[in-house]
Amino acid sequence: YVLAIDQGTTSSTVLVFNDAGQVCGRAGAEISQHYPRPGWVEHDPEEIWTVTQEVVKQALQEAKAEPQQVRAIGIANQRETTMLWNRHTGIPAAPAIVWQDRRTARLCDELKQEGLEPLWQQKTGLLIDPYFSATKVHWLLEHAEGLRSRAANGEIAFGTVDSWLVWKLTGGRCHVTDYSNASRTLLYNIHQLDWDNEILARLDIPRHMLPSVRPSSGIYGETDPRAFFGHRVPIAGVAGDQQAALFGQACHRRGLAKNTYGTGSFLLMNIGRQAVVSREKLLTTIAWRLGEEPVEYALEGSIFITGAAIQWLRDGLGVLARAAESEQMAASLTDNEDVYFVPAMTGLGAPHWDPYARGLIIGLTRGTGRAHLVRAALESIAYQTRDVVEAMSRESGIQLQELRADGGAVDNRFLMQFQSDLLGVPVEVPAITETTALGAACLAGLAVGIWASRDELTERWQLARRYEPKMASARREALYARWRQAVERSLGWSEAGTP
Ligand SMILES: Nc1ncnc2c1ncn2[C@@H]1O[C@H](COP(=O)(O)OP(=O)(O)OP(=O)(O)O)[C@@H](O)[C@H]1O
Ligand SMILES: [Mg+2]
Repeated sequence: YVLAIDQGTTSSTVLVFNDAGQVCGRAGAEISQHYPRPGWVEHDPEEIWTVTQEVVKQALQEAKAEPQQVRAIGIANQRETTMLWNRHTGIPAAPAIVWQDRRTARLCDELKQEGLEPLWQQKTGLLIDPYFSATKVHWLLEHAEGLRSRAANGEIAFGTVDSWLVWKLTGGRCHVTDYSNASRTLLYNIHQLDWDNEILARLDIPRHMLPSVRPSSGIYGETDPRAFFGHRVPIAGVAGDQQAALFGQACHRRGLAKNTYGTGSFLLMNIGRQAVVSREKLLTTIAWRLGEEPVEYALEGSIFITGAAIQWLRDGLGVLARAAESEQMAASLTDNEDVYFVPAMTGLGAPHWDPYARGLIIGLTRGTGRAHLVRAALESIAYQTRDVVEAMSRESGIQLQELRADGGAVDNRFLMQFQSDLLGVPVEVPAITETTALGAACLAGLAVGIWASRDELTERWQLARRYEPKMASARREALYARWRQAVERSLGWSEAGTP
């Protein structure tokens, strides 16, 4: 078996695959979300570890697999989320700052005013935004009591969630990350493949806090028997969840793209071995590195809130009891009746990059009901994806032929059809929609020789459903134009409002 851990923003999911790549066991559990102030989002690192451990146990039980039958462990993780812990005791030094957190927006403004963005973009492939880890590390060192001096003493380790899980699984022996995760920190030079001294100096982050960077497919170390049911098993694959999903979707060739419909949505296109600097405010990111092969890159459009808008209607407003109900509710209307929902609750990512944008619902009339809100939320997922697809076509010169879709919301047929209509290209849903975990398993399985090559993985990728565009193009463009107007109205909202 290969055990794949998908430590996501809202939950930890573990899948057990056999050597034919079939799912034999699956378990998942939610992670608590903490919102201590407007715009802040935190996780508890200890909870992430204990929940993940529990889910690993359940998934093995469900697969009727013994821990000693696991040949390799692969990890995919929510990216950018920032943790600091004590290297000697393993105790977290502060709550984890989640990728969605906007508390460093002012610092990002300062860095941009200093004119640093073009150079930092050239080095890291990213833009200056609170999204990435760098300013979160700086914030913790500045604001958590005594942390700066403890960091200077070498006591504090920094890591993203992958580093934390490998650290815990190996009993504190490995302080590592992989190339794909390193490339999301805004601290890593994706061309020279090294942490960047200038950026570290500007943010006052000591280099010795950082993990060492390893191939996404390769042996990281063995589990500490105390952390893995008395057994030593190699951890053999690590990647950020979106890069893992790109791998799991078998997007191994240049020009192949996928979009994941989870908490947020992340459209990634494989661009091969040559990195580009985006003029369209897309991100250039390391897709993966397999062993000692050259690094491969991807172009990414990151959308912060998509499925989370449905979650918010469910948990925040109580408009829905279950996410799946959204399909029928949306389909009960023949039209959006000009109601638009821009779910900019944590600012807007690609291609707008406005940390001060905030959510809005516009077009309300006395006739507006719950179904309108639900439909507008689902449609916003597709509109935001189109914003990114347009930028990506301009940037890459590659006209998308089809879009591979995965993640929790692909079960929603209304959404998938609307997405295809709005893009004017087919949307393809594979047989295994948990491509994040699949990608982590594939990276690990390749490293230990369970699977021989990527060709073998490509052959196994199977289509389950294909949605063809049906909407007339005049209508598509009219709807999209209205969306663009709604987005304009959401921009900059909190900048004037917060002291
Ligand atoms: N049928 C559905 N229609 C619309 N949205 C759905 C549906 N089912 C699930 N979702 C949404 O999909 C999201 C869950 O998808 P998924 O499990 O892929 O996300 P996730 O992996 O938990 O995200 P993350 O990795 O960030 O934790 C939730 O935000 C939920 O609201
Ligand atoms: Mg996920």
